[in-house]
Amino acid sequence: MWSLCRSNVLHKTLVAQLNTCCRLQAMKTAGKNLPKVYITRRIPPDGLKALQQAGSCEIEQWDSDDPVPRSELLKKVSGIHALYCLLTEKIDKEVLDAAGPSLTVVSTMSVGYDHLSLEELKNRGIRVGFTPDVLTEAVAELTIALLLATSRRLIEAVEEAKNGGWGTWKPLWMCGSGLTESTVGILGLGRIGEAIVNRLRPFGVNKFLYNDIAPREELAAKISVDFVSLEELAKQSDFLIVCCALTPETQGMCNKQLFSKMKRSAVFINTSRGAVVNQEDLYHALASGQIASAGLDVTVPEPLPTNHPLFKLKNCVILPHIASATVETRNAMAALAAHNLLAGLKGEAMPKELKL
Ligand SMILES: NC(=O)c1ccc[n+]([C@@H]2O[C@H](COP(=O)([O-])OP(=O)(O)OC[C@H]3O[C@@H](n4cnc5c(N)ncnc54)[C@H](O)[C@@H]3O)[C@@H](O)[C@H]2O)c1
Repeated sequence: MWSLCRSNVLHKTLVAQLNTCCRLQAMKTAGKNLPKVYITRRIPPDGLKALQQAGSCEIEQWDSDDPVPRSELLKKVSGIHALYCLLTEKIDKEVLDAAGPSLTVVSTMSVGYDHLSLEELKNRGIRVGFTPDVLTEAVAELTIALLLATSRRLIEAVEEAKNGGWGTWKPLWMCGSGLTESTVGILGLGRIGEAIVNRLRPFGVNKFLYNDIAPREELAAKISVDFVSLEELAKQSDFLIVCCALTPETQGMCNKQLFSKMKRSAVFINTSRGAVVNQEDLYHALASGQIASAGLDVTVPEPLPTNHPLFKLKNCVILPHIASATVETRNAMAALAAHNLLAGLKGEAMPKELKL
């Protein structure tokens, strides 16, 4: 009886082992045929989980918080079917040539796509996924934080408090400017621009103006903002907030002509892309008192060298590109980029696909 039992157990164990072995073998064989995906960075867990759980691709990853070196990227993309990238990787002709004709999907974990050569991608029929909407709230929130930090001189004030500059209460010390009854100008009334307006309204702003490629009448009527020329935007705004896309047209758009038209009391905020601003012109505008202050989340280059002249100015607040940096948002961006990629590989509609 005992030996019968034992042989049954042995049989079951052997069958289980054989099953596992067969499954592994099947997965291995299938693995050979699975589309290859290269991920250019260590990404938030929800992104990797989505790709792994799908089980429909073979993943290779640059598992580091720092960007993949260009030479490594060029090597690793060879023969892949889909590329999961970040805004730090320039995806141009060289990378696409290195990848070869197998590449059908590029999914970027960003809403900005100025790092992608769209023409090259379009010519090769490569589909592109990106991550709009899921980061809008976080970026708008950070823009408000940066605006208040800049206009109310928070960084300067904290330094003074820590370093003994805090004497007795002084009526004229550390004064900035308030949002109440002010005019706010939005350069680029897109998703983030709209979310910024909605967040700023409760501060008692008197008037919202905007400039964009063309008037956005329906949206503007809904949120009570007025379309003006770029020149009027510069002249009238107490706070000028840049949240447009970086394109050949917007590159260097915020330059000395623009700053020279702004009020001396104006606060300039940029959370879009650094290259929209001519930084040398901005430096002179800030150093000469042509405008009151600036808050930047984005610069050229990134990181901005610690000895950069802009860091020497008390009226310039610089953040290290953290506008979308909440745990929830970064996970949502990572997961959306993964789902875009998986859908692209299957030839299905992506949750968020860029129209090329
Ligand atoms: N700092 C960050 O971490 C961070 C995070 C997310 C997005 N961004 C940047 O913010 C940008 C906007 O994001 P979004 O989701 O609101 O995109 P969006 O496409 O909804 O808005 C961009 C707006 O810019 C406008 N625009 C384009 N060219 C213009 C021009 N010549 N003049 C005036 N306006 C112009 C567009 O018409 C559009 O309304 C992104 O492109 C990205 O570069 C930065």
